[in-house]
Amino acid sequence: MRRSQLYVPANNEKMIKKSLEIKADTIIFDLEDAVPPEEKGKAREMLKQFISELDWGKEKELAVRVNEINTKEGLRDLIQVAELGKINTILIPKAEGNLSFVHKATGKEIIPIVESAKGLFKIEDVLTSEGVSAITYGIADLSLSLEGKVDEYIKNDYVRTKIVVSAKAYNVEAIDRVYFDLQDPEGFRQECLKAKNLGYNGKQAIHPSQVEIANTVFSPTEEEVEWAKRVIEAYEKSIKEGRGAIRVDDKLVDYVHYKLAKRILSTPH
Ligand code: COA
Ligand code: MG
Repeated sequence: MRRSQLYVPANNEKMIKKSLEIKADTIIFDLEDAVPPEEKGKAREMLKQFISELDWGKEKELAVRVNEINTKEGLRDLIQVAELGKINTILIPKAEGNLSFVHKATGKEIIPIVESAKGLFKIEDVLTSEGVSAITYGIADLSLSLEGKVDEYIKNDYVRTKIVVSAKAYNVEAIDRVYFDLQDPEGFRQECLKAKNLGYNGKQAIHPSQVEIANTVFSPTEEEVEWAKRVIEAYEKSIKEGRGAIRVDDKLVDYVHYKLAKRILSTPH
């Protein structure tokens, strides 16, 4: 379950400690853009220390966003993270091709971040890498790579739809991108809803206040659960009577709706 993934700068002791009490499904300790170049070594050391010293429980997925893997810092990050048993997952920024070596070398699950023209164009190469369990994307870096404007790409449905279609074609989860405006929880909620309706499984977050919103939106609502129960009951009864198409709440229900209802009830609610 990856309804919410919170970024925590790995050089910030206060935020690392704070993240213990935040109910994000994934905590992503960031070694990349939230950490200035001269702090990279310190951030790796802090990460190592706090991952082993603090009690992270079993509830959360612990992940690290490494630096670009074709740089020295990125390679140092990978070697370090490979040694951290409590880290399940590595996020790879600017993913543009086959990433199987990262999984082979570290044994960790991989979440690529598509955020360049080449990454979007070559998304199948990225998704067919070994160990990929989800995919996400970054709109600011993508705009930069395209020599376009962030404000334009924030409104762009092609990118959001392309990512989720590609993810589902290869049976991995799709996680929607971060939302930069911390003063606009309603805007964040609307983006969560839009992403959920397109088939995304969760959304990335940069602030604790966004986590609860994502958790709520990406869990089935009470109405959805009630609808699913009604559909399953009615459909299973009708099947015994030899009927595959029935009327529920004045709408057609057949096998596809039964499967949709099953999926809703299989999501924790
Ligand atoms: N993780 C953990 N705790 C966080 C947090 C985060 N991402 N963002 C804020 N907090 C904590 C603060 O430490 C503060 O704790 P306190 O109440 O115990 O003092 C509380 O939440 C409220 O924070 P606030 O004052 O509203 O945040 P800010 O204005 O200081 O910081 C940001 C805003 C955007 C700089 C900060 O949220 C942040 O660094 N986010 C992550 C950025 C990142 O990782 N980017 C990379 C991916 S795009
Ligand atoms: Mg980025």
